[in-house]
Amino acid sequence: MLVPSPLMSTFVEARNIPSHVAIIMDGNGRWAQLRDLPRVAGHREGSRTVRRMVRACRRLGVKALTLYAFSEQNWERPEIEVDALMELLREFLLSERDEILGNGIRFNAVGNLGRLPGLVRAVLEPLKEASRDNDAMTLTLALSYGGREEIAAVARELARQVKAGEIDASEIDAELLHRRMPSLSVGDPDLVIRTGGEQRISNFLLYGLAYAELYFSNALWPDFSEHDLHAAIASFQGRERRFGLVGQDPRLLTIPPQARAANG
Ligand code: IPE
Ligand code: IPE
Ligand code: MG
Repeated sequence: MLVPSPLMSTFVEARNIPSHVAIIMDGNGRWAQLRDLPRVAGHREGSRTVRRMVRACRRLGVKALTLYAFSEQNWERPEIEVDALMELLREFLLSERDEILGNGIRFNAVGNLGRLPGLVRAVLEPLKEASRDNDAMTLTLALSYGGREEIAAVARELARQVKAGEIDASEIDAELLHRRMPSLSVGDPDLVIRTGGEQRISNFLLYGLAYAELYFSNALWPDFSEHDLHAAIASFQGRERRFGLVGQDPRLLTIPPQARAANG
């Protein structure tokens, strides 16, 4: 079955929806700059896009959506911007609470959450708790998050356990590390989308990215539409994931057109 996108030009196959979609929501500042507005206006508009994308992913049947909302490195931005982002985060959590609970969404957050202001944690923790048994979709916000910091935290805890004699160092393997990564409790990301035109990872989900499909969109996050999301998913659906094995796809879909032309 095909689900037509709003503009009817991209078709998403209903049976091959990525289970875990992760998004690096970038471009809010530039969106505002283009309009001679303060950066915070871009962040406000960006939070509207978050709302739309949560709805769109739920409609498509995505099981887990992870959104990179604030990196550990973003704390170094000007105080006025950091404060505005924290306020917007609090507003978002308050205004979305009913929709999250009403739609059976489990809300989660990963990152160095202890660094968040008390006013944010005061709304974040209760929402996490109230939604813990929901299973329609897991919405995870990566907040004060860094992929390297997450790996370091897991390594630190494992070292502590080895020292305490709780586990043996020989038990530490890639799978154990994976099980310990809070960002991967919903499984590896299948599709990672970055908006805003940059083609980099910026310290997001480093451990889980091993075999993720990457998709870069030039749309600035406030402009990212349901149609753009469908285009990203359609691109994912046209790829053959090989996980280090040998390709099986007889349609040779994964030979880039230029390479096909160059090889007759
Ligand atoms: C992404 O938009 C939001 C956060 C990082 C908090 P930016 O604020 O990075 O926007 P640009 O990249 O400067 O346009
Ligand atoms: C990545 O965007 C972080 C988030 C989207 C939260 P940045 O704007 O912080 O990343 P760089 O500076 O372009 O690498
Ligand atoms: Mg940016």
